[in-house]
Amino acid sequence: MKKNVLITGASGDIGGAIARKFAKEGVNLTLQYRNEAKVDAIIETLKDYDVEIQKVKADIVHYEECERLVKETLDKYGKIDILVNNAGMIRDASTVKMTEENFKAVIDLNLTAVFYMTKLVGTEMLKVESGKIVSIASVSGIMGTFGQVNYVASKAAVMGMTKTWAREFGRKGINVNAVAPGFIVSGMTKGLEDMYTNQIPMKRFGTVDEIANGIYFLCSEEANYIQGQTLVIDGGLTL
Ligand SMILES: NC(=O)c1ccc[n+]([C@@H]2O[C@H](COP(=O)([O-])OP(=O)(O)OC[C@H]3O[C@@H](n4cnc5c(N)ncnc54)[C@H](O)[C@@H]3O)[C@@H](O)[C@H]2O)c1
Repeated sequence: MKKNVLITGASGDIGGAIARKFAKEGVNLTLQYRNEAKVDAIIETLKDYDVEIQKVKADIVHYEECERLVKETLDKYGKIDILVNNAGMIRDASTVKMTEENFKAVIDLNLTAVFYMTKLVGTEMLKVESGKIVSIASVSGIMGTFGQVNYVASKAAVMGMTKTWAREFGRKGINVNAVAPGFIVSGMTKGLEDMYTNQIPMKRFGTVDEIANGIYFLCSEEANYIQGQTLVIDGGLTL
């Protein structure tokens, strides 16, 4: 039986790469998206793989939208084996200039929506006593990057929540882990290469596929005894 994976933010740069990796490995997909043209372009690249693909439009900062997303996934596949909490955003400014709106917007998506999705999908996984959950954190949550107080708070929280969930869900055989990417070639880091490449021991930004590979590994049977960890994939940036 093929496994079923639910990926949030699947129309984004890293989300698309995660979808491709799972499709290549023969896993059925539910792709949550905001941008229809982008998700359709990703689905087009997956048409040669022998997997089912469902796309669900949802704004996951709203709990009811998360409920609908989980319900539509269960209605189609009956079970969610893997959840990847990938959706995320930045709204950068120094603390002095950070507006209340921009602080809250980033927390709502990067932290609260991760809680909503993990609560809902984790509840379903507990019923069958199996499953894997991986959330995307960031090296920003480890380093405390300048001008990203909202993003840093949200990503440090993802790593903390992952430890709590490792305890709460681990008792029933469910693995919960996180991945913390460094600088990845993507829209989010556009224009930053000249400024930051030299600080990275490997002297290059990472690729979206290198992040997808780490996520896939944590969701595989090879990683059954890895619990509550954050896998840092950053070319050595945080050493
Ligand atoms: N790109 C990097 O260098 C980098 C580094 C570290 C961590 N990350 C993290 O990786 C994840 C993916 O980032 P990316 O670079 O692919 O960014 P991206 O902007 O390309 O993708 C983000 C996705 O989140 C979705 N999204 C935004 N608001 C949403 C909402 N309210 N409801 C549902 N979905 C929503 C977008 O539609 C998009 O698909 C994020 O969590 C990001 O913080 C990225």
